Amino acid sequence: MERGDWQVEKQKLIRIFDKQAVRYDNHREDAQQTRWRRQLIGCAKGEVLELAVGTGANFPFYPPSIQLTAADFSGAMLEKARQAAARYRINSTFICSDIEELSFPEHSFDTIVSTLSFCSYVRPLPVLQRLSRWCRPGGQILLMEHGTSTNPALSLALRALNPLLYRIYGCHHTRDILGLVRESGLTINKVESHWQGMVHLIWASPQK
Ligand SMILES: C[S@@+](CC[C@H](N)C(=O)[O-])C[C@H]1O[C@@H](n2cnc3c(N)ncnc32)[C@H](O)[C@@H]1O
Repeated sequence: MERGDWQVEKQKLIRIFDKQAVRYDNHREDAQQTRWRRQLIGCAKGEVLELAVGTGANFPFYPPSIQLTAADFSGAMLEKARQAAARYRINSTFICSDIEELSFPEHSFDTIVSTLSFCSYVRPLPVLQRLSRWCRPGGQILLMEHGTSTNPALSLALRALNPLLYRIYGCHHTRDILGLVRESGLTINKVESHWQGMVHLIWASPQK
């Protein structure tokens, strides 16, 4: 994609996510997601980077001692996230930025978290590869991501619906998340897959 087209596409995506901020904020209590988020985010430690934080759906599950840096490109999402951080007393700094253009010095964070965000990036693989550099040796990368299904019929249906779902929600439903994480070189320590292989909880560490 040319740089100009990329910028136009990003502006469209930001508008799509800005419009969803209120709905995301009102749907924090989904029981299934709550279980998964508690299980994954409870492992966070130290200085934490959260990519594409949305409205801060993970905030209730962070241990109290963490220091959070959270980024997102949607101003409306970040406004809700700031309010949630105050409510849950999270020691936090927010960055309004495209994740695909973020940069940090090597070994900046003990934990990097991403939930439901690798479906949206135009080029997800380089973002995954950068996580190894930003994470400290011995640190952890905690992911909860969705993509295509291991059920062939469902995967076919997701492929057919993907153009429509992307226009409405700004996320792809056809990505091979485990394949991308393996290709990125991250060390996968543990995976749990749910919902016909569409949702993955991944405990990883930086590439050795
Ligand atoms: C499906 S929501 C998930 C939000 C949150 N992580 C959660 O678990 O509820 C996707 C989020 O990614 C953000 N996002 C998508 N692409 C992005 C990008 N390239 N740069 C920054 N934020 C992005 C959207 O603004 C939105 O807040």
